[in-house]
Amino acid sequence: MTELQEVQITEEKPLLPGQTPEMAKTHSVETPYGSVTFTVYGTPKPKRPAILTYHDVGLNYKSCFQPLFQSGDMQEIIQNFVRVHVDAPGMEEGAPVYPVGYQYPSLDQLADTIPCILQYLNFSSIIGVGVGAGAYILSRYALNHQDTVEGLVLINIDPNAKGWMDWAAHKLTGLTSSIPEMILAHLFSQEELSGNSELIQKYRNIISHAPNLENIELYWNSYNNRRDLNFERGGDITLKCPVMLVVGDQAPHEDAVVECNSKLDPTQTSFLKMADSGGQPQLTQPGKLTEAFKYFLQGMGYMASSCMTRLSRSRTASLTSAASIDGSRSRARTLSQSSESGTLPSGPPGHTMEVSC
Ligand code: BEZ
Repeated sequence: MTELQEVQITEEKPLLPGQTPEMAKTHSVETPYGSVTFTVYGTPKPKRPAILTYHDVGLNYKSCFQPLFQSGDMQEIIQNFVRVHVDAPGMEEGAPVYPVGYQYPSLDQLADTIPCILQYLNFSSIIGVGVGAGAYILSRYALNHQDTVEGLVLINIDPNAKGWMDWAAHKLTGLTSSIPEMILAHLFSQEELSGNSELIQKYRNIISHAPNLENIELYWNSYNNRRDLNFERGGDITLKCPVMLVVGDQAPHEDAVVECNSKLDPTQTSFLKMADSGGQPQLTQPGKLTEAFKYFLQGMGYMASSCMTRLSRSRTASLTSAASIDGSRSRARTLSQSSESGTLPSGPPGHTMEVSC
């Protein structure tokens, strides 16, 4: 678990008035499952968890999260948190292709690399934001290290292992589709793919011309071989922290996320189904997702209303009876548990919020 290399990069990103440029620092750590690269933005804030992201198959941290973290409204959130964006092994920019026969880690093993990252950075707690395979990895990590996870935003999570029917369908599809097309069908809805918008063209191009396509296939295989997370409502295997489940309506994983919602603790879980957002709400609706994220953080006692813009402050005031202030975390958590006013706009936590755009 020792450091390999450190690369200092200055990111180009549009700055808001009064903002100073933030440094992005890319690190690699050796883990029992190979080297893992991650990029840290911002500086650690005392008594605050880091936001740690984990991307889906076919993407890396930038192609998965840049539109969300660079969206205008997100800036007032992220200035309060250090961010750690993990690239799954072999997905980082410029990653060499693994040799044939390389034993790529399972999703459970990838979850086991997260403590190495946190230990290296000397961070003790996180709010995880994961998409697809990344959402699974962060959930597995949270099941094993619940004391270090303050909250989870899980986009397109499928907590179930593939059943034999899924495998048969997967094998059949594999006879007629290339790996990039199968991954695109995992990321986007059929409607989006046939619409062939600029976004789809961009991601089709990124994935089908990826110089590390062999590595991507290994991550894809690990995703398809995932074990069941075995969530059980009221049982021992459950997420104990506040969770925001997110899925686009008509997204490929809508049913899986709905089922996941039914298995988690309703007092800790909010379910955000986003209309017209396709398979990747963080790419297509970063503004809406940012707003929900803000309410989620507020329910956890972060994001005082006083540090919000006037627009979001007035919206929040009308939606929560007690705006949380920094340091009042237990009160805010109680509020969210008591289902009184809710952390999210149109209903108490543990309920569904549908956002139409
Ligand atoms: C961030 O500020 O956290 C960020 C910037 C660029 C890409 C991804 C994340």
